[in-house]
Formats: sequence, structure tokens, C-alpha cells
Amino acid sequence: MARRSLALSKVYGLLEPGPVVLLSTARAGKANLMTLSWHTMMEFEPPLVGCVVSDRNHSFRLLKATRECVINIPTADLAEKVVGCGNTTGADIDKFTVFGLTPVPAALVGAPLIAECFANLECRVADTRMVASYGFFVLEVVRAWLDRAVVRPRTIHHLGHGNFMTAGERIKLRSKMK
Ligand SMILES: Cc1cc2nc3c(=O)[nH]c(=O)nc-3n(C[C@H](O)[C@H](O)[C@H](O)COP(=O)(O)O)c2cc1C
Repeated sequence: MARRSLALSKVYGLLEPGPVVLLSTARAGKANLMTLSWHTMMEFEPPLVGCVVSDRNHSFRLLKATRECVINIPTADLAEKVVGCGNTTGADIDKFTVFGLTPVPAALVGAPLIAECFANLECRVADTRMVASYGFFVLEVVRAWLDRAVVRPRTIHHLGHGNFMTAGERIKLRSKMK
């Protein structure tokens, strides 16, 4: 097999697992959004999700202070807005207004859901032991919402450097993994 060496800086593009999400946070009545693709499932129930949030982001400060957020999962029709939220900072602008997204109050946390996203996971920070070293927050999902009208959500997946994939064909196999 002809293999070529891959720059270590490109490894993440092969392993980027789940969909790109929008993380919403809020403090003192002001909500913010950031685009996030470095996340991983850690437990089935209660669902635990690990997320890397860089301390260079405004969202880092909000998440650290409030210990609450919402993971919103967008579909491909929102791709431009999703990238926009990843290229701007809530320290300077109100992203809900600038990108025309609609905040909806959550049931259990102070951060809002995004109405346009087909799934919304209300989260509380469960573990901060790796925040100082990696910006890695362990989040517990305390409430989850799904838009019944969206049957096969075409989620967005990050490949790096402005390249994205959208979810496509599904296959069903016998698997022992629940
Ligand atoms: C596709 C994409 C994925 C991103 N994934 C992450 C991520 O996993 N963690 C992170 O800290 N920043 C990530 N970012 C960068 C933040 O979204 C970006 O720094 C944003 O401006 C932060 O906004 P804020 O300052 O309002 O919090 C990503 C950006 C894009 C476009």
C-alpha cells in the first residue's frame, strides 16, 4: 500500500467525530454562541460530554463562571451561520442578532436554546479537573430536546481548514454496541 506521511497538524481532521455544534452560554442576561467541534461522548446515562473550549474564547469565561451551557446541533442549512459564529467573538458582537438566530429559554439552565437547531442539550459542568491543562470541560446533559419535524438531520462535520462534510447515507448492521 502506498502510504504518505500526514502532517501531525492534520490528524484531527481524520478523527473529528461528531457534528459541529453551537455552544450557547449566558451571563447577566447576555447570551453568546460559539462553534465547537472538539467534543466527545463519555457516558451513556446520565449523558456526559467532554468539550474542549479554548481559554481564548469569550465562551470560556462564561462557561467557567456560570457552569451552564446548551449544546445546539445545527443542520447543513445553517452552515454559513455556524462558521460565522466560529469566526467572531461575543466579546464584540451579539451573535444571535448578527446571525439571525433565535434564543429560546431553556428549562433547567440559564443559557438559551437555539430555535433553528434540531437538537438542544441543556448541560451543567460536571468536572473541571482538566480545564486548566486542556480547556476540557466535562458536561452533564440534564435535559434534551429534539425537533420532531426533522427526520434525517443533515449534520455538519468538520474536516479542517474550511472543509466540511454533511451526514449522508445510513447503513444498519447487527451491533452489540447499544
Ligand atoms: C468549524 C469550527 C469548529 C470549532 N471548534 C472549536 C472547538 O472545538 N473548541 C474551541 O475552543 N474553539 C472552536 N472553534 C473556534 C471558536 O468557535 C471561535 O474561537 C469563536 O470565535 C469563539 O467565540 P466566542 O469568543 O464568542 O466564545 C471552532 C471554529 C470553527 C469555525
